[in-house]
Amino acid sequence: MTVGIYFATTTGKTEDIAERIHGLLDGVDNPKDMSDVDDLSEFCNHDAIICGIPTWNTGADSERSGTAWDSILDEIGELDLSGKKVAIFGLGDSSTYTENYCDAMEELHRYFQQAGATMVGYVDSTEYTFDESKSMVGDSFCGLPLDEDSESDMTDSRISEWANQLKREIPGL
Ligand SMILES: Cc1cc2nc3c(=O)[nH]c(=O)nc-3n(C[C@H](O)[C@H](O)[C@H](O)COP(=O)(O)O)c2cc1C
Repeated sequence: MTVGIYFATTTGKTEDIAERIHGLLDGVDNPKDMSDVDDLSEFCNHDAIICGIPTWNTGADSERSGTAWDSILDEIGELDLSGKKVAIFGLGDSSTYTENYCDAMEELHRYFQQAGATMVGYVDSTEYTFDESKSMVGDSFCGLPLDEDSESDMTDSRISEWANQLKREIPGL
């Protein structure tokens, strides 16, 4: 069983969260910055992947993260990740960007789904205060949204609850 954590970041918050999630899970590889990944086929070597993505391009239909993820989305969609579990966490600001909260998660989610991955780590939205997000699937987010700008006091409980959820959804984790 191998599990990888991958992230991209502009000001370091998504990297910090990747490290903190890593600290809550046993037997998971050290978080890797997507800027250092040359060959996406390394995703295929894992049984499960956890991906972190911030949102910077407010309101954009595509390339919403403003990070290294944006230029490789098509390539992700072309991989064969059937049988793999993928979970996404997103960084955003639910107060200042309340109409576009963590929009980039949905984009990454869509391309991993296109690659045949089984998506896990969905989170009920009822505990969140925001107006709109493209990352909603019914009443849930398609991953774990985190807000280090306005709600950093909630991050510890959100990530520990999510880590427990992943342990249930990813056998062997
Ligand atoms: C110019 C700008 C645009 C942003 N746009 C959004 C947005 O549309 N939605 C959102 O949820 N957060 C938005 N944010 C907040 C960032 O996503 C947030 O600060 C995040 O933690 C940054 O992560 P990083 O440090 O890993 O790059 C924006 C921030 C800035 C400064």
